[in-house]
Amino acid sequence: MASLGQVIFWSIISIIIILAGAIAFIIGFGISGRHSITVTTLTSAGNIGEDGILSCTFEPDIKLADIVIQWLKEGVMGLVHEFKEGKDVLSNQDEMFRGRTAVFSDQVIVGNASLRLKNVQLTDAGTYKCYIITSKGKGNANLKYKTGAFSIPEVNVDYNASSESLRCEAPRWFPQPTVVWASQVDQGANFSDVSNTSFELNSENVTMKVVSVLYNVTINNTYSCMIENNIAKATGDIKVTDSEIKRRSHLQLLNSKASLCVSAYSAIDWVLLPLCFYLMLK
Ligand SMILES: *[C@@H]1O[C@H](CO)[C@@H](O)[C@H](O)[C@H]1NC(C)=O
Ligand SMILES: *[C@@H]1O[C@H](CO)[C@@H](O)[C@H](O)[C@H]1NC(C)=O
Ligand SMILES: *[C@@H]1O[C@H](CO)[C@@H](O)[C@H](O)[C@H]1NC(C)=O
Ligand SMILES: *[C@@H]1O[C@H](CO)[C@@H](O)[C@H](O)[C@H]1NC(C)=O
Ligand SMILES: *[C@@H]1O[C@H](CO)[C@@H](O)[C@H](O)[C@H]1NC(C)=O
Ligand SMILES: *[C@@H]1O[C@H](CO)[C@@H](O)[C@H](O)[C@H]1NC(C)=O
Ligand SMILES: *[C@@H]1O[C@H](CO)[C@@H](O)[C@H](O)[C@H]1NC(C)=O
Repeated sequence: MASLGQVIFWSIISIIIILAGAIAFIIGFGISGRHSITVTTLTSAGNIGEDGILSCTFEPDIKLADIVIQWLKEGVMGLVHEFKEGKDVLSNQDEMFRGRTAVFSDQVIVGNASLRLKNVQLTDAGTYKCYIITSKGKGNANLKYKTGAFSIPEVNVDYNASSESLRCEAPRWFPQPTVVWASQVDQGANFSDVSNTSFELNSENVTMKVVSVLYNVTINNTYSCMIENNIAKATGDIKVTDSEIKRRSHLQLLNSKASLCVSAYSAIDWVLLPLCFYLMLK
């Protein structure tokens, strides 16, 4: 039987170990919290000449004055954008982005660090980094930004052609897309021999107008003109009946996926620290 002395001794040792573990856990949590926060970006695409959004979110922090947002671009010396102490700080901004960037300053407090980029250029494509510091810690995530041109096609009956024809037109595409026709009645049919697609360079010499004509179409059938490049996919549908013409179109960006980035240290920190304390005490 253990003596009272032994029982007290082991009880005290156990209590010390438990307390130390709890303290270490709290310290560990505090330190790891200061180490890293979750930052999430969304791969996105910009349409040349229009405004774009580089999407980035982070764990919100109620202390706006402590939040620093830095946007950087691979291969660019200066910053893309900096937001600090509740306002934009543009002294270190690269020439390339002058006057073209803004964060949604009223959204920063809820963890939205997205960047608005005005007048997107082809050269804006690349890898961006969204880097965040808050009172809880730091974090960053990369974002691949693709640029090009894409637009919704419009399909009409081509009254000028000698046979019954459809004409599909989209004003701006880049890089050069592929154009494929399909029909609901003849599914899987290959229309490449009965269509003619041309690309006309627009006046800025980058984007092109897409025109595709489909010959010998039949009434009561639905035809789809599908335009696709590495950035976007657009479809224009048309159905001509005796009494009416029905149209439908849509545009979808390709490979728009979230990239989640959590620093590897955080999880290890708060498991290792209590363990270290425990081993030291033993
Ligand atoms: C950030 O805020 C802007 C402006 O309100 C909004 O358009 C955008 O969708 C927001 N981004 C995220 C990821 O919530
Ligand atoms: C049809 O032809 C007329 C005159 O030949 C021309 O002005 C018009 O642009 C043409 N329309 C289409 C859609 O090609
Ligand atoms: C359709 O036929 C052409 C040749 O006539 C061929 O080059 C093309 O790959 C075919 N397309 C499909 C989707 O099978
Ligand atoms: C359209 O049909 C007519 C008559 O059937 C034919 O002569 C012509 O070659 C066809 N056009 C195409 C582009 O296939
Ligand atoms: C396609 O269009 C071009 C220019 O509009 C024309 O020169 C060519 O003959 C057309 N090809 C066919 C097969 O209709
Ligand atoms: C586009 O190219 C043409 C001929 O190559 C040139 O004359 C014109 O100035 C260019 N336009 C622009 C906006 O660069
Ligand atoms: C097209 O469909 C309508 C109603 O479904 C029908 O009355 C008409 O005869 C059809 N036309 C042809 C050419 O098949």
